[in-house]
Amino acid sequence: MIAIEHLVKTYGAFTAVDGVTLTVAPGEIHGFLGPNGAGKTTTLRIIAGLLQPTSGRVVVNGHDVAGDPEAAKSSLGFIPDRPYLYEKLTAGEFLRFHGGLFGVDGAGIADRVREMLELFELSKWEDELVESLSHGMKQRLVMGAAFLHRPRAVVVDEPMVGLDPRGARLIKDVFRRMSERGVSILMSTHTLEVAEEMSHRISIIHRGRIVAQGTVDDVRRLAGGQDEHLTAVFLRLTGGSGLQEIDEVL
Ligand SMILES: Nc1ncnc2c1ncn2[C@@H]1O[C@H](COP(=O)(O)OP(=O)(O)OP(=O)(O)O)[C@@H](O)[C@H]1O
Ligand SMILES: [Mg+2]
Repeated sequence: MIAIEHLVKTYGAFTAVDGVTLTVAPGEIHGFLGPNGAGKTTTLRIIAGLLQPTSGRVVVNGHDVAGDPEAAKSSLGFIPDRPYLYEKLTAGEFLRFHGGLFGVDGAGIADRVREMLELFELSKWEDELVESLSHGMKQRLVMGAAFLHRPRAVVVDEPMVGLDPRGARLIKDVFRRMSERGVSILMSTHTLEVAEEMSHRISIIHRGRIVAQGTVDDVRRLAGGQDEHLTAVFLRLTGGSGLQEIDEVL
């Protein structure tokens, strides 16, 4: 369960997140959509406890992120948009290191690392340095690290960027299975097809505010475009861009 109430984040006079309220129920995949600069990453980093909100509250699996950050973080898997990996560790070492941070150690860790390497199709890269992995392999390694400690909630910023079709399919299947087991997943994405295919509910954020929330069909209805492609709905709700302007410049 992830619950955000009236979240605000300001930078000086600029308000990046402006009163966001959103819940992700157990087993729900929630798509978090919005134009560049809308406030998605800022919101996700606050949930992960990496950024202090100006005001508002975040509760992860019953733990207040401000009041009990350790408990909140230990029940959360966070996959940032630009993860930092230790390039000089091997893939296996990276996973074991991550497991240690989350208290997965002792006898359980070797099995768990092997499971993650197998799941994310990285077994033959176990002893290779992270720096020698391709972008998509690194992306899958980061997912393995984030899921190693069996989090009950997952926050993921742009999971599909740079994955090949097989990798994207794998990640979708993993998210679906996790959701079937009751994990709450909040996922930002610019790929509206992915959002539509995967999400039980979506939130569209624009200039720090939620402009639409609900099932994809709810959002379509709200925007008055029942049979419309989600892209058209998205553009209408977030200001869009006109071909006219493009023509003027070209
Ligand atoms: N440290 C900071 N100082 C000042 N402004 C910031 C800072 N971090 C983010 N912002 C601003 O907050 C706004 C929201 O940024 P954020 O990264 O959350 O957007 P986003 O929705 O993730 O966009 P994208 O789709 O491009 O990833 C942007 O206008 C950004 O410039
Ligand atoms: Mg972002």
